[in-house]
Amino acid sequence: MGGVLVVVLVHIVATTVAAASDLRPGFYSETCPEAELIVRDVMKKALLREPRSVASVMRFQFHDCFVNGCDGSLLLDDTPSMVGEKLALSNINSLRSFEVVDQIKEALEKACPGVVSCADIIIIASRDAVALTGGPEWEVRLGRLDSLSASQEDSDNIMPSPRANASYLIDLFQRYNLSIKDLVALSGSHSIGKGRCFSIMFRLYNQSGTGKPDPAIDPIFRGELYKLCPLDVDQNVTGNLDSTPLVFDNQYFKDLVAGRGFLNSDQTLFTFPQTRGFVKFFSKHQTEFFKAFAEAMLKLGDLQSGRPGEVRTNCRVVNARPAAHLLFESRLKTQANNDHRSI
Ligand code: HEM
Ligand SMILES: *[C@@H]1O[C@H](CO)[C@@H](O)[C@H](O)[C@H]1NC(C)=O
Ligand SMILES: *[C@@H]1O[C@H](CO)[C@@H](O)[C@H](O)[C@H]1NC(C)=O
Ligand SMILES: *[C@@H]1O[C@H](CO)[C@@H](O)[C@H](O)[C@H]1NC(C)=O
Ligand SMILES: *[C@@H]1O[C@H](CO)[C@@H](O)[C@H](O)[C@H]1NC(C)=O
Repeated sequence: MGGVLVVVLVHIVATTVAAASDLRPGFYSETCPEAELIVRDVMKKALLREPRSVASVMRFQFHDCFVNGCDGSLLLDDTPSMVGEKLALSNINSLRSFEVVDQIKEALEKACPGVVSCADIIIIASRDAVALTGGPEWEVRLGRLDSLSASQEDSDNIMPSPRANASYLIDLFQRYNLSIKDLVALSGSHSIGKGRCFSIMFRLYNQSGTGKPDPAIDPIFRGELYKLCPLDVDQNVTGNLDSTPLVFDNQYFKDLVAGRGFLNSDQTLFTFPQTRGFVKFFSKHQTEFFKAFAEAMLKLGDLQSGRPGEVRTNCRVVNARPAAHLLFESRLKTQANNDHRSI
């Protein structure tokens, strides 16, 4: 009896629940004052080693936060008993640069072991990716915990396809209390990075089953995309998401206005009247884009599942714990699952 009680108490100390209201700037100022400097330093090195890698890391914030909140679930490797998010439709053969997060975690574990969560690393590193490529800077709110599990199915059910149109995306983002302006600003993250031919074959050759290309593509740009992605191409071949893929700027929006968006989900923001105004606005006013982007990234970063969590020591695996804890935990988790279906 007493033994069970002790286990339960230890468990409560080891895994706690974080709410968005608990997140704050300077969360690590006492426990790991160098945390943000350490992340920035590794990101700078990653940028020098492989410029695209910072874009790839920035994408993690979207894919992590939309699926059960910003909880580092995305980073968990599969185990014999859990198929995680890495194999999900939007992530497989697509998400990359997990090694940059590993390097950040390693550096942080050296400086302050067991303190900085992997979920917070994603948030800090995404901010840094933008700042280091010419975009805005903002102060991040920290104090997230890492999930105890991940679900491929949840990611498959949530993450949008590159085929999505603007009205679908508006509805999806609305479910997270992200406005149309937030949606358009956040899509501006495609100002950096690359996408695969795989993601655009349908719009080049068979948009909406018409057997024809997407009519919204500028004809000269279409010619370039046909060259990059012929029908028999290795669909892992990549193209730039905008014409300045190493610089975070508003060129992405200028490209959309010119019919030169890479993904269907990008170009549709100009095609649909509900989003077109913001595309035009951001294409003319970079400062307004930067301001809206920073605000939207903060909102995206505030999404939380309310489930119990921990600070992982290795971002790829849940911390080891005695079997009795696992039992109690799964009960807690089931309860949390039922309480938080809405996210
Ligand atoms: C609005 C809905 C969105 C859709 C449908 C979407 C879809 C995609 C797709 C299909 C790719 C290329 C993947 C591939 O071909 O392998 C991509 C890349 C990327 N996405 Fe998104 N995305 C969306 C929103 C976002 C948001 C909100 C962010 C960040 C806050 C983001 C950041 C990125 C980045 C940085 C890349 C380039 C990654 C790299 O070069 O490795 N995306 N996205
Ligand atoms: C947008 O996409 C949704 C879901 O795929 C579809 O049902 C809808 O008809 C599309 N809207 C327009 C205007 O094409
Ligand atoms: C969106 O806002 C409503 C009203 O403030 C709130 O009840 C709901 O939990 C929010 N949803 C998310 C996903 O944050
Ligand atoms: C285009 O898509 C439609 C509907 O999905 C399909 O029936 C048709 O066979 C496709 N055409 C080509 C050329 O792939
Ligand atoms: C891309 O490469 C991966 C790994 O080499 C392979 O499994 C996959 O089938 C390729 N995807 C496409 C669309 O060709």
